[in-house]
Order: sequence, then C-alpha cells, then structure tokens
Amino acid sequence: MKHQTISTEMDGDPRLPTAAPELTVVLPAYNEAENIPVIVDKIGEALGGVAHEIIVVDDDSPDGTAEVTRSVARTRPHVRCIRRVGRRGLSGACLEGMMAANAPVVVVMDADMQHDETRLPVMLGQIADGADLVIGSRYVEGKKAGGGFHKKSRAKGSELATSLANMITGRYTTDPMSGFFMMRRDVADMVAGTVSREGFKILFDIVSRYGSELDIREVPFEFRERVAGESKLGFLVTVQFLGLLVSRFTGGLIPAQFLLFALVGSSGLLVHLAALYLANSALGIGFVLSQILATYMAMTTNFAFNNEVTFGHRKLTGKRFWAGLLTFYAVCSIGAIGNVAFSERMFEFGAPVWIAGLSGALMSALFNFAVTKLVTWRDA
Ligand code: GDD
Ligand code: MN
Repeated sequence: MKHQTISTEMDGDPRLPTAAPELTVVLPAYNEAENIPVIVDKIGEALGGVAHEIIVVDDDSPDGTAEVTRSVARTRPHVRCIRRVGRRGLSGACLEGMMAANAPVVVVMDADMQHDETRLPVMLGQIADGADLVIGSRYVEGKKAGGGFHKKSRAKGSELATSLANMITGRYTTDPMSGFFMMRRDVADMVAGTVSREGFKILFDIVSRYGSELDIREVPFEFRERVAGESKLGFLVTVQFLGLLVSRFTGGLIPAQFLLFALVGSSGLLVHLAALYLANSALGIGFVLSQILATYMAMTTNFAFNNEVTFGHRKLTGKRFWAGLLTFYAVCSIGAIGNVAFSERMFEFGAPVWIAGLSGALMSALFNFAVTKLVTWRDA
C-alpha cells in the first residue's frame, strides 16, 4: 500500500527523531510564559535518556504562553502547544492534552515547577511494574506538603477536602486532588468519555468513577513553591469543589452545577432582604416598588455570581455580559411567575404554607437553572 511505502521511506530519514516517545508530559498552562522554557529543560534533565514529548495546553493566555512555547519548540521539536480559544478550565485542558498524546504513557503536571519532575522516572517505574495510575502525592509517608501551601488555611482546607473525597470515592488515596499524575494511555482513553471536562479536579473524578477497577499507586513528592506567576485556584474553585462532592455524595442525582446555582440563589435572598429594607425603611420608597427593586437587585447579584462560579467556565464578558444579564432577568421573571402559580396551586390542594412556598421556590430554581443554562450561558 502506498502509505506503507511512505512510512518505510520516513524510517530512514535522518532528519526525523529516532525514537518514538515513551512518555507524554501534559502541561496545562494559563499565564505561565515565564515558566515554560525552564520546565521544559528541567523535565529533559530529569528524564535523562527517556524519549518523551511535551504538550503545553494553553487557554489563550494573555501573557503569550502559546508564543513562548512555539519559540521553545523551534529548537526542541519534542515540544508542542495546543492553544484552545474561547475555553477555560483545567480538567478540559488536561483531557485534551492526554488525548493528543502519542506515547503509551501520559503524565499531567503543573507548568509552574510546583511538582517535582525528578519523581518522573520513579512514577514510570511503577507503570512498568503494572500500575494503571500513579499519583504524585503531597502527603504519603507522613510527608507534609512542602512550602507550596502559602497559607496554613489552604493546607488545612486541602486536608479536609482529602478526607471528604476519600469518603466519597470509597477508596483511600492520600492525595486524590493532586494535579500530578501518570497513567497508561489506554486508561486515559477509557476514562475520557465520562470524566467531567468542567472544573479542575480531574484526578478526583477518575478515582471516584474508576477507583475500584484500577491499580493505583502513589509516589511522594515535595510540593514546591511556585516560581513565577500566580495560582489560579482560589476560593471559587473550593466552592465548585464542594458542589462536586455533594453531587457525588448523592450518586450524581443532583448535578454539582445546580447546587451551585441554588447556593447562589440563597445568597440572593439576603441581597433581596437588604435591598428591600434599604429602599422601604431607609429611603422611604413604597413597598411594592421596593419589592420590585429588591427583586432585580437580587437577580443582578445572582447573575454576577453564577457567571463567576456556576458557569465560570463559560463566563460572559464585555457585551455578552450585558446581553446575558437581560436574558437572565427575562428567564427569572418567568420563573418567579411560575413560582407564585405553583405554590398557590399547592396551597389550594392543602399543602402547609412552608411546603407550598418551598416547593414553589424549588420549581422556579430548577426552571431558572435549566433555561438560563441553555439560553444565557449557552455554548458560544
Ligand atoms: N489550560 C489551562 N486552563 N491551564 C490552567 C487553567 C485553565 O483554566 N487553570 C490553571 N491552569 C494551569 C496552571 O497554569 C498550572 O500550570 C496548573 O494548571 C495548576 O494551576 P495552579 O494555579 O498552579 O494551581 P495550584 O498550584 O494553586 O493548585 C495545586 O493544587 C491543586 C489541588 O489542590 C496544583 O497542584 C493543582 O494541579 C492541584 O489540582
Ligand atoms: Mn501550581
């Protein structure tokens, strides 16, 4: 066949690299321009003779991470960049990098040198020994996470999240939220279809869904300080993670996104009451008008929070922010009418006041969630 001839010809081409990669290193990167050239060299040193390729998955970082990666690649052809446009999110980036890997083994690590690349050969050894998944753990063997946790609170929070995660995955791993993990390429293919592309806890997702089928090993490492740039995982990510945990706890019955939406909705209640009080009691505006003002005030803050947290991966900015706000008002206004109608019906059928009220609120929350997800935050 024609294409076989081509491949034999290419085998003899001295311009081509001689060895196919044994390992693909996936580096999700957002604003890591300064770190890329350094980490590429460090990985090379750590891997010694192991043929490898490095895939930087950039989400169109404004600091030029993609350009820097391409310029590194000009002298080091084992490096390449996937530049994703109009998308954000760590899990999705990791998954896309793993799917683009050519080697039979893939590893994901931070691009900021917080993960110890000198552990790579040890992790590879575990795979060779039969492991399906090897987790770089910040805690194994009584080792405390290193200086990488700036704040005590973050270290504590991380410990708590680890225990919760273990409860839910039903499997004891010392660091189920690590961002440093290696697996066989076929394992990555197996999990790819079901693992969530939203959020950032891809390893947790894999362990919680496939933990019982996989041979999982752990390799300790010292979590180092970030060299340049700043962490992208802040408070929002913690809130998103709690949503994910509860969702898993209910066996996926309640989607994490809806929980966040409902949580934001409850915060809206506080805004509503505060605005109502301010307008009516402090400014002396009539009750009905105050109530309407308070309603839209709460809708506005709900929209802003949902845009950051619940739909942070599809965050609307610029003009689309304002257009989104208008559709959000429209949908929630319909939801509010539905809420009143539904609770009234329940009440007529003899439901106690609080059940009627609560079920009306729940119905409208479900409606608002489903419709704004489709309309306001639809995939562009
Ligand atoms: N492409 C892409 N898109 N990359 C991203 C995004 C994104 O939206 N968000 C973060 N990254 C990249 C960062 O550039 C970095 O290389 C890596 O993903 C991890 O992000 P950091 O911002 O460095 O996270 P961290 O060091 O605070 O968090 C650590 O702990 C987490 C668990 O608690 C890391 O070890 C994480 O990997 C880990 O999940
Ligand atoms: Mn990091």
